[in-house]
Amino acid sequence: MAHDLIATHDKQSALNARYGADSVPTAGPWNATIQLLLAHRSVRSYKPDKVPAKTFETLIAAAQSAATSSNMQTWSVIAVRDPGRKSRLAALSSNQKHIEQCPLFLIWLADISRNDRLGQSEGVKLETLAYHEAFLVAAVDAALAAQNAVIAAESLGLSTVYIGSLRNHPIEVAAELNLPKGAMGMFGLCVGYASDSITTEVKPRLPQDAIAFSEQYSIGNEPEMRSRYDAKLAAFSKRNEMNAYTWTERVITRMAKTSSLGGRDQLVVALQAVGFPLR
Ligand SMILES: Cc1cc2nc3c(=O)[nH]c(=O)nc-3n(C[C@H](O)[C@H](O)[C@H](O)COP(=O)(O)O)c2cc1C
Repeated sequence: MAHDLIATHDKQSALNARYGADSVPTAGPWNATIQLLLAHRSVRSYKPDKVPAKTFETLIAAAQSAATSSNMQTWSVIAVRDPGRKSRLAALSSNQKHIEQCPLFLIWLADISRNDRLGQSEGVKLETLAYHEAFLVAAVDAALAAQNAVIAAESLGLSTVYIGSLRNHPIEVAAELNLPKGAMGMFGLCVGYASDSITTEVKPRLPQDAIAFSEQYSIGNEPEMRSRYDAKLAAFSKRNEMNAYTWTERVITRMAKTSSLGGRDQLVVALQAVGFPLR
């Protein structure tokens, strides 16, 4: 009975942290996996301790266990540990310091090159690889694999942060990693043990009513939900990032100006250059 009470308290705390105490769903079925998922947070400061080789293999096994479209397995991953290479990749990814600091930087690739090589060796032109759909399938595959690795990493006491700015300079990244045509870095992932000084809280999310609908899309009372979420994110960012910004401010800062894309407004051209025709 005591165990049940503790478990109830733990799951309620996890939901409170994720949504704020005023908009938690009632706790439903629960287990250690759900508890782990709800406790996710990105970490941007790492100890120098290496990720053991067997741990890395486990992360990759978890990644390869993700669903993959038609079992085409159109993704790959490159583990970068060399400080010089991490430093060059950081310079290509808006100089984020955690890229250099983390012991293991994983580059997740949308990769249709292996399938292309298969076709070539069998003397069959794989016509479908030229279409936008092939890129989308590969990008989705890479993301699903990476997220499985993130969950596995967190379950083993490691921390992570994705690096989307790896797409700022896809051609230079492809050269640095010696990528074949038809492979492109979708995002990086810093992996390591969080610095002892890290106390980042779980970052609250929009209430479920704002993003999960029944049968058909519903805008509902979105303005009211947004303003309540704005207050929560401002309080969170003030406590954790010394800068009280609302979600509204964050969205506008991130999405209003093409310049905030950091070069990714040229992504179609870069994708075509690295071997995704995008027909
Ligand atoms: C595809 C993707 C790219 C991201 N790129 C970056 C990045 O370049 N730098 C960074 O510090 N965080 C990056 N993030 C982390 C997000 O900022 C973070 O997930 C979000 O603010 C929610 O915070 P949480 O992960 O702690 O819950 C990225 C996340 C995703 C999913």
